[in-house]
Order: sequence, then C-alpha cells, then structure tokens
Amino acid sequence: MANQKLWGGRFSASAAEILDVFNASLPFDKKLYKQDILGSKTHAKMLARCGILTQDEADLICKGLEQVKDEIESGVFEFKLSDEDIHMAIESRLTQIIGEAGKKLHTARSRNDQVALDFRLFVLDSNKHLRNLVLNLITTLLSLAKEHTQTMLPGMTHLQHAQPVNFGFLLCAYACMFMRDFERLESTFKRNNYCPLGAAALAGTPYSTDRHFVAKELGFIAPTLNATDSVSDRDFALDFLYDTSLLAMHISRFAEELVLWSSYEFRFITLSDAYSTGSSIMPQKKNPDVPELLRGKSGRVYGNLMGLLVVMKGLPLAYNKDTQEDKEGVFDSFETLEISLRILNDALKTMTIHKDSMLKACRVGHLSATDLADFLVKNCEIPFREAHHITGKAVASAESLGKDLSELSIEELCAVDYRIPKEAHSSLDLKASMESRNSYGGTSTQATLAQIESLNAWLELAKTTLGNV
Ligand code: ARG
Repeated sequence: MANQKLWGGRFSASAAEILDVFNASLPFDKKLYKQDILGSKTHAKMLARCGILTQDEADLICKGLEQVKDEIESGVFEFKLSDEDIHMAIESRLTQIIGEAGKKLHTARSRNDQVALDFRLFVLDSNKHLRNLVLNLITTLLSLAKEHTQTMLPGMTHLQHAQPVNFGFLLCAYACMFMRDFERLESTFKRNNYCPLGAAALAGTPYSTDRHFVAKELGFIAPTLNATDSVSDRDFALDFLYDTSLLAMHISRFAEELVLWSSYEFRFITLSDAYSTGSSIMPQKKNPDVPELLRGKSGRVYGNLMGLLVVMKGLPLAYNKDTQEDKEGVFDSFETLEISLRILNDALKTMTIHKDSMLKACRVGHLSATDLADFLVKNCEIPFREAHHITGKAVASAESLGKDLSELSIEELCAVDYRIPKEAHSSLDLKASMESRNSYGGTSTQATLAQIESLNAWLELAKTTLGNV
C-alpha cells in the first residue's frame, strides 16, 4: 500500500509536470510581455472609461503592470511553467502585487483575444523594424551603385558571359527586389493593422465596452470587424512569414553572387576580413561563410511559412490551441531576417571591389557579339537571322586566332565576310556596347543613373511613410 502510494504520488507528479511542459507557451511567449502589458493597460483604461472599473482600480492596475514590467526587465520576475503563458503569468503576479483589483482586469476579454492582440502587435512592430533595415540596405546599394556606373563586368544569363553591363546596374537590380520587399511588408502592415482586443472568447461581450477607443489608443486603424474571425485569424502572421520568405530569397540570391564573386574564378570582390572566416586545416583559405549562411538561412525561413500554413489548414472556428504553434516560427523568421539584413549591409559596405578583374572578365566570352549583329542589321540592311550567322562566323574566327571578338583588328574582322564594312569594327568595343544600351531601364551609364535617381526618390518617400504608419 505504502509502495503504491509512493509510486502513485510520483506518477501523478511527473504526469502533471510533463503536461505543463507540453501545454505551456511561457518559455517562448514571454517575449510578448511588453505587448501584453501595453494591451492590458489600455484595456483597463477602457474599462474605467466605460464605468466597468473605477478609475482608482484602473490606475492601480496600470501601476501594478508597470511594476511587473520592471520586474521582468530587471530579471527578478519568476517565470513559472505552471502559469502556462505570459498572459496568466503577468495577471497572477499583478494580483499578488495589487490584490483584488488585479482579478478584475480580465473582465470583458479572454486570453483568445488577448493573445491575438499581443502577437499581432509583435508582428506589426517586427514588420516596421525589418522595413527600416531594408531601407538601410537599399541606401547602401544605391550609394555603391552611384560609384560604379562605369565599372564594367560581364552580365550573365545561364551563368555564361552574355553582354557587358555596369556594376551599379546590377546593384540596382537588387535594390529593385528589396524595394518590392519593403512595399510587400508595407501592404501587409496596412491590411493587418486592426485591433482584435474586445472580441473576447469568440462572440463579443455583454459589457458595454469601447473597442474603438482601444484600437485608437494602440495605434490601429480600427477594431477588427468580426469577433470570431478576430480570435481565429492568423493571416497577419502568415503574410509576415511569406514576406520574410521572399526577402530571405532575395538575400540568398545576392549572397550567392557574393560567394561567386569572391572566388578565385571571378575575383570581382574581396570580402573584408571582418566578414570572412578561415579554414581550420588550410591556412591559405578565406571562406565566404557569411554569404553562405545568408544563402542558407532562407531554408528555415521558408520552413516557418510552411509550418504555420500546415497548422492553420483545416482549423474550424474559432480559437484552437493549435494556434499556440504560431509564435516560434515567426520569432525565428524575424530574428533571422533582422541579423541577416544587418550583416549583408555591413558586408557590402566593407568589401573591396576589383574593377580590373571585372573588366578583364569582359574580354572573355565575346560579349560584343550582339553589337556586331545589331550593327549589321542597322547599317547594312542584313536581316537579323543572317547577321546572327555572320557574327557567329566572326566569333569562330576570333577563337581560332586565340582572341576575344573585341580584340579583332579591322582587317581580321573584315576578312570574316564580304558584307562586314570596316565601320563595323567600332561595334566590337566593349564600353561602346554597354553605353549603347540606353533604353529605359538599360545598362548604359545614363540609364543606370536614371534608375538610381528614381530609386533614391522612392527611398526618400519610403522613409517618410515609415514614420507615418
Ligand atoms: N497560450 C495561448 C496561445 O498562445 C494563449 C491563448 C490560450 N487560450 C485558451 N483558451 N487556452 O495561443
């Protein structure tokens, strides 16, 4: 009997403990303490305005919540797994501090709308924060681009030399991607800037509350429209996870360029020592670990999106505990992008750009072949298909001479085909080739400068809208 009791006692204790571990979100949702306290203070103010609490009670609650916040920030707050989540942890500590009034805070709300609010506030803050970092990155890209509108390098398709472009032009291509990332986050912010607090458990509340007051105080556009949707919706988190996935994808593409450009095969850039690492066995090596990690981080960010999409699939209305699984992935994606954007920005600012190697690479791969074909079409009334064929012969001839097309002499060029006039020789010049692509959005120095100007104008505007959201 005694044995059984002992065994029984141990069993029930350990069963409760394992349930706590499984059920609790406190270990990760304690990150939301600031949002929780802000939401609770606003809720208490509203309850007092509506005559549901006295002003004294609301003041006491707000004061108590400030103390809880101090305790958390100074590290003296005791997080107990048995409290389950940050909402209950804060409320029970509040009640310990201020007594009876603390128990009234939860009037006319539920943890369902409370967590929907806290998490939404976190996601919106993170959205703003990432947008700031994206703007910093674009600023760096544009200032680098401005310095390099005459720095030629081979533009590629299929990773093969295609046509000469300038380095600033390629940087503008990335600036365009990041501009869209900013705008995507911005529209996500606007779409989700509505306050779920006051939806209560799922159906609203019999108290005469003022959801509009709460929404306005917290900086939202308005309260959410439908109580059941408010507590079950996690679209705001999914939007964010999708936006960060695209951002991570763009970062990984850029990172891949950095890996390639810093290899011996390219030698277009050297990453600063501060953003490279050594090999433990090969003393001569300088490895691009930083861009490799930037490239690899996209995996976990996409995973977080997939994870939450699957959690949400098929969930019936309204709140379900499944949605407690929404947070860690979002925290992780935010933190991953936060550090990635900072590191990429710093790596770009500190890298060395080797103009000579870029130019040298232009002399391999017959980059001005299209220009010769275009010259023949424009000036010799030769149909493009025919001009393409003649140019192909010129390329073959250059190869047999062990030269790049751009290095053929007038005589060598004219010997290729009787239809090539000597004036065609100037079309082989690499710089002329790049500068000839002066169409809107093209790679000439002038067209690139116009892109930089447009992007800068956009940037100035984006900075002001960020202040306003
Ligand atoms: N920890 C919960 C979560 O993150 C808070 C909401 C719990 N609500 C409930 N009715 N159990 O989703």
